[in-house]
Amino acid sequence: MKPRVTIVSHPMVTEQLTLARDKRTNQVAFRKAIYRLGRLMAYEFLRTLDTEASTVETPLGRTSGGKVKGDDKIVIVLVLRAAIPFVEGMYKNFPMARAGVISAWRGGPPDFPIEVTYAKIPRIMKDDVVVIADPMLATGHTLLEVAKRVMEHGRPKRLAFFSVISTMTGISYVAKAFPRAEFYTCAIDPGLDERGYIVPGLGDAGDRSFGTPR
Ligand code: URA
Repeated sequence: MKPRVTIVSHPMVTEQLTLARDKRTNQVAFRKAIYRLGRLMAYEFLRTLDTEASTVETPLGRTSGGKVKGDDKIVIVLVLRAAIPFVEGMYKNFPMARAGVISAWRGGPPDFPIEVTYAKIPRIMKDDVVVIADPMLATGHTLLEVAKRVMEHGRPKRLAFFSVISTMTGISYVAKAFPRAEFYTCAIDPGLDERGYIVPGLGDAGDRSFGTPR
């Protein structure tokens, strides 16, 4: 089965992605770009939710209207630490979302072992829409481990992964275990380097947002 991938494309997405990729972009501007990309991706994702038709009285008459249904069923899972500004932006368009937080540290090649040291995940209901947010979907090892941990808390109606930049290697790796999952990304880059970083990518998203740890 082919992975279900949506490339979120919009001139504003291109602009913010270009800023985020640019090595001259400083920490504050980088975080702002990731925040804006989260907001834009959430906005686009709202198209996939149902809407409820209604009518509305204006001061001058009556017309048709509607509202988004099910935005209170969204559960965002924030993968520390790179997803902090990304999720902050998503909240602008998912204000009713419940949230989970998970820390996943990825070791080096060839196995890229994942160490989860903290996980606070809400109970997942069967009509929930779970969105796992990590700006970089590189090898897929982190997201696969995170998704497995999240699924221990219940099976949602939909499972979506939000990443700013992905690779097909990473998407295929996660999709093998979660074939019905949906992948939303702003770009699919061609490669990975020997450390598992996306090339050309944007570098280390956590370091660029928050500085390099000593
Ligand atoms: N994590 C990052 O921050 N960047 C990559 O390119 C891959 C994983």
